[in-house]
Amino acid sequence: MPMLPLRTVADSPVRAIAKDWLAELSDALDDAHTDRAELCRRTLASLYHPEYASNWDTAVRDDKLPAPTRLGLAAMDPRNITLEPEYYGDCDDARFQRVKPLLWLWYSFDRSPAGGQNVWLGVELRRLLARHIFKRCGENFKAFQHVEFSFGYNMDVGDHVVVHRHVLLDDRGGIRLGNNVSISDYANIYSHTHSIVEQRDVTNAATVIEDGVRITYHATVLAGVQVHEQGMVGAMAVATKDVRPYHVYVGIPAKSVRVKPNAPAAHTILRTSSDRQSK
Ligand SMILES: CC(C)(COP(=O)(O)OP(=O)(O)OC[C@H]1O[C@@H](n2cnc3c(N)ncnc32)[C@H](O)[C@@H]1OP(=O)(O)O)[C@@H](O)C(=O)NCCC(=O)NCCS
Repeated sequence: MPMLPLRTVADSPVRAIAKDWLAELSDALDDAHTDRAELCRRTLASLYHPEYASNWDTAVRDDKLPAPTRLGLAAMDPRNITLEPEYYGDCDDARFQRVKPLLWLWYSFDRSPAGGQNVWLGVELRRLLARHIFKRCGENFKAFQHVEFSFGYNMDVGDHVVVHRHVLLDDRGGIRLGNNVSISDYANIYSHTHSIVEQRDVTNAATVIEDGVRITYHATVLAGVQVHEQGMVGAMAVATKDVRPYHVYVGIPAKSVRVKPNAPAAHTILRTSSDRQSK
């Protein structure tokens, strides 16, 4: 296969505006006294409803405006919306309310014309927000559009991690991503599960994706699974058990079909039939 490193794309003239805005946002987030809900509200109101940005309060209360307009305006403020994880019995409300405005800004920015597929600005903004949402966020974190979290605050992320578009990172029981991990488009990583008898019986289990792992297109990793270093979960696979280091797992349930040629000798034995005992 040919080596195809990423191309360099020229800066757009508006990049200076973006850099100033990101610097402002970064200063505000570094300041412990910043009201994050207010910051999110101001940012989203200027993005979506610049005509109401300066009189947002009055407009929301103005009963001459159509109800959907008022509701749309109100939704710029994270205190006026609810996110699904807030309903979870194990949600640590104090922690969640601290990150909720940043999650709402992240998700809403992704639906705006300035955000979404706009790669450079989107990656920079998400990198900035991730540092204030995650338990730990390493160097050079890169997330593309429409990534979703459960709590966000249970994410522990190493250096040079890439998360592609439409990925679900359910960090309810905790997700640890090591260094140089890549999560491809539409992949799902879970860290909670429900009893097959009683839906409300929930088990949280931390899911660990070690250094150099690739979780590829549309793959799913179930709660509590450990994907060991340099392992790979193939397209559409469902990893229900631990994945051995340097092994490539495919299918449902995912099984090892090959070992990467660069695997150290200790990892080269392919045991397709005994994967179930490998945990
Ligand atoms: C897992 C993957 C890397 C395997 O690639 P590979 O090492 O070249 O393996 P092969 O294509 O030789 O396949 C080995 C066997 O597994 C099967 N297989 C490969 N990928 C599979 C998948 N995702 N699901 C089910 N079976 C799969 C093949 O059909 C083949 O079966 P066979 O031996 O019965 O013919 C690849 O199929 C895959 O899923 N790629 C995802 C794309 C990717 O790399 N994404 C990352 C982008 S960031």
